[in-house]
Order: sequence, then structure tokens, then C-alpha cells
Amino acid sequence: KAQNNRLIVNTDQGKTTISKHIYGHFAEHLGRNIYGGIWVGPDSEIPNEDGYRLDVMKAIQNLEIPNLRWPGGCFADEYHWTDGIGDPKDRPMMVNTHWGGVVEDNSFGTHEFLNFAKKIGAEPYITGNVGSGSVEEMSKWIEYINFDGVSPMSNLRKKNGQEEPWNIKYWGVGNENWGCGGNMTAEYYANEYKRYATYARNYGANKLYKIAGGANSFDYNWTEVLMKNIPISMMDGLSIHYYTITGTWQNKTSATDFDKATYLVTLRNAAKIEELIVRHGHIMDQYDPEKKVGIIFDEWGTWFDVEPGTNPGFLFQQNTLRDAFVAAISLNIFNKHAERVHMANLAQTVNVLQAIILTNDNEIILTPTYHVFDMYKPHKDALLLSHHLSSEELSIGDDKMESLNVSTSKSEDGTVNISIANINPDKKIDLDVLLRGMDAKSVTATILTAPEINSYNSFEKKEVVKPTEFKDFKLSKESLKISVPAKSILMVRVK
Ligand code: AHR
Repeated sequence: KAQNNRLIVNTDQGKTTISKHIYGHFAEHLGRNIYGGIWVGPDSEIPNEDGYRLDVMKAIQNLEIPNLRWPGGCFADEYHWTDGIGDPKDRPMMVNTHWGGVVEDNSFGTHEFLNFAKKIGAEPYITGNVGSGSVEEMSKWIEYINFDGVSPMSNLRKKNGQEEPWNIKYWGVGNENWGCGGNMTAEYYANEYKRYATYARNYGANKLYKIAGGANSFDYNWTEVLMKNIPISMMDGLSIHYYTITGTWQNKTSATDFDKATYLVTLRNAAKIEELIVRHGHIMDQYDPEKKVGIIFDEWGTWFDVEPGTNPGFLFQQNTLRDAFVAAISLNIFNKHAERVHMANLAQTVNVLQAIILTNDNEIILTPTYHVFDMYKPHKDALLLSHHLSSEELSIGDDKMESLNVSTSKSEDGTVNISIANINPDKKIDLDVLLRGMDAKSVTATILTAPEINSYNSFEKKEVVKPTEFKDFKLSKESLKISVPAKSILMVRVK
């Protein structure tokens, strides 16, 4: 039935800043993420700078990513950092048992990661090993990285060529400790967390931001137990992991071959991230009403079957316009809950899961998801604006969702940013926007769309899905009318 599609943006009402760290990324030693993706080594024929692939590095630099999480994931809880320092030819090898059983030669270690983070201008976020490590091992790693004085670990760092401490802030105390990080109960992990966090020292003026390994999706008991047992003075962030699965864990369905009903199932599952924030957030509010402890969504994104013919342990999947919608919806939701969501990290950066970049030997493609992050840049560190949206329902098969999904913010220079996703695969939506409290003068906009909901960029056709300029709007003072094309994502900027 016909319905008015209306958005009221309260341009003069906002109190929460959308942390740029919501736009963070994650690079695990998994498949071709680090090796072949970020790192090819200085002797590679692929153009590189100090071993970092130039094409990938430039694409990441362009996104201005705020932080990068490393080295895992499940890999983090079997990683021993001392294997990855010193002369590369003396570094021991290990088996990456979680991810394809491949040999890890440790050529990409602490120095390589921290130097990469510096080159791309991102804050490093390191996850320490709780599952198979020790308190001493984690404590010494922090001393190695951050201590500016004379000590065994800082001397070793200097011997390995890094005089100054890196002074990193974000530190994760284990990963998925309910599963691959040690199969612990929440009670056991809460105790372990306190023990490890006690010896995760601050050096000099640098204060660590400590992140506790949080719940698997809807496991509210995990959050309850951690919040009850860990004093909030000991924990800055609490993570949650949530993957958008379309089928089951056994049959996650194809990343590229799907119909409209399946498409809507994916988007509906992506939108459940809001329920997670609200329900975990309610529990956290009981113990931390001032919202000091941030929800850290340090793994989120789509997880489909691997591309046919690729190593199942490498989690390599294509990325379509549907993935772009998952990104747009998720980021809109994170923005909305920025008071509690202090950081998020898409899984993962290159060649793994909902990657922003895919590589083959010497070429790269930017995925539709990459373009969403690029278009959403203005939301970073902007003031969250409240809005009211009513839009028509999209119903396919057994599923229903609102056709439009929106986020609104205000940049420091007063520009109002409106990101809009019209998930309806077939129907353009005429949206009436009321910019309440604004005497608007000009509008610019960018659109991401494609011929089909399962269109993607391939090495043969690299730019099937890419942003272009959008002009189908009409502004008159407080009123903005936008014709939002079917299956499109817009970033509209009003001055
Ligand atoms: O991102 C892939 C894996 O998913 C991570 O290693 C793990 O933390 C999660 O289960």
C-alpha cells in the first residue's frame, strides 16, 4: 500500500560523537589476508614498499582507516610474539592450525605490523594470547612495544631496530575465549581476564585501552558474567562478535548466486546487530550506567561459502552489492548507538570474508564494501543527529523490512551527512526530508548501485560496482526531496 516516505532530521540536536573507530578493520593471519594481501616481502616482484604491497597499501591509505586489529581472531590465541621478531631468516616456522594448516614463516611480525599501521595512519589494535599463552608472555609483549626506558624487553626492541616505543593504546585480552580462544566458561574467563589485565601495564603517559574478549552473538550470559565480575575500572571495552550468516554454519550459501528472497534474509540477519547492541547494552547499563565501557564489535560482516575451488580454510569469498548493503546497514546501526558502540572492526581487510580488497597475483579490486566505507567517511567523528524515519515496507517471501535505512550526522563545519540505503531491489523511493533547524543552501551526493543485487567487481570487470555522482534531488530551504533509486546507497551532504 502507498505510504509516505519521510525523514525528519533534527539538525540542531546532537550530543554524541560517532567515534571514527567504528570504521575500523581487522587483519588476521588467515588465508591471503597478510601474506599475498598486505605483505609480499621486500624481494617480491609485486611492487612493494619495504615488503608491503603498494596497490593494497594505497587503497587502504585512501580509506583513512582509524585502526587495524591484528594478529587474530583465532590465530591470536596460538600466536607467540617472540617468534615474529628479529632477523626474519632466524624466525621459527609454525603451523597455522586454524586456517588451512599452512606453514606460517613469521616473516610478518610485531615490527612489520606496527610499521604498516604507521604507514597507513591507523592506530594498531593488538590482541594478546590468553588461550595458549601466559600472563608473562603478554606482559612482556606490552613492555617490548611500549616501554621507553632500560629493561630487557625495551633493549631487545632497540636491538631489533626500533629505538622509540610505539606507545600503542588498544589491547585485546584474548579472542573468542568461549571457543577457539580456550573453550572457557564466562566465569573462568572473567578471572583470567583480571589476571592478564593486571599485568598489562601502562608505560609512561601511555594508557592502554583494554578490551575484554566478549560474547558470541546472542550469548547474553557471557556479558552478564563479565560485567558482574570484572570491575569497570579494569576494562575499557567489551567485545561482541557477530557474523551475518545466510544459511547455516554447515551451508552458508553462495556469496554471488542468490535470489531476492535470500537477499532479504541476509539483510534481515545483518539488521539483527541492532538487537544485539540493545540487549547487551541493557545488561551493561546495569553495571555501567555512564556507558564508560564501550561495546567493541571487533568482528562483524558476512560469512558465505568460500569461492568454488579455493582452500576452505582461507575463507575467500566474493563481495556483491548485497555485501555493500550489509555494510551500510551495520554502519548506520553502529552510528545510531555510538554512545555505547565505541569501536567496530569489519572482518576482514584483504581476501578474507567481507573483504574491502581482493587480490590476485599482481592486481587488486576494490569491493562494493570498500566503496561504502569510502562514502561513509564524513560520519567519522561527526556529531550524531537524531532523526525520525518512516518508509514503506519491503516484503519478499516470509521476510519484511523497512525499505530505507538511514544514518544522520553533522560534521564540524556544519555539513549535515545523510547516508541512505534503499534495499528495495526494484522500486525507486521518493523521500521527503525535513532538515529541521537548517537553512540549507547546497547539496552534493554520491550513489553506489549496480545492475543487479548480486553484481560484483571481478578481475575481468573491475568497476561494475563503484560510486558515482548523484543529482536526483531538489532542495528548498528546510525541505529536500530525494528520488532514491532501487537497490542503491547514497551519501547526501547538505550545507
Ligand atoms: O574472522 C574469522 C574468525 O571468526 C576469527 O578468527 C574468529 O575470531 C571468528 O570465529
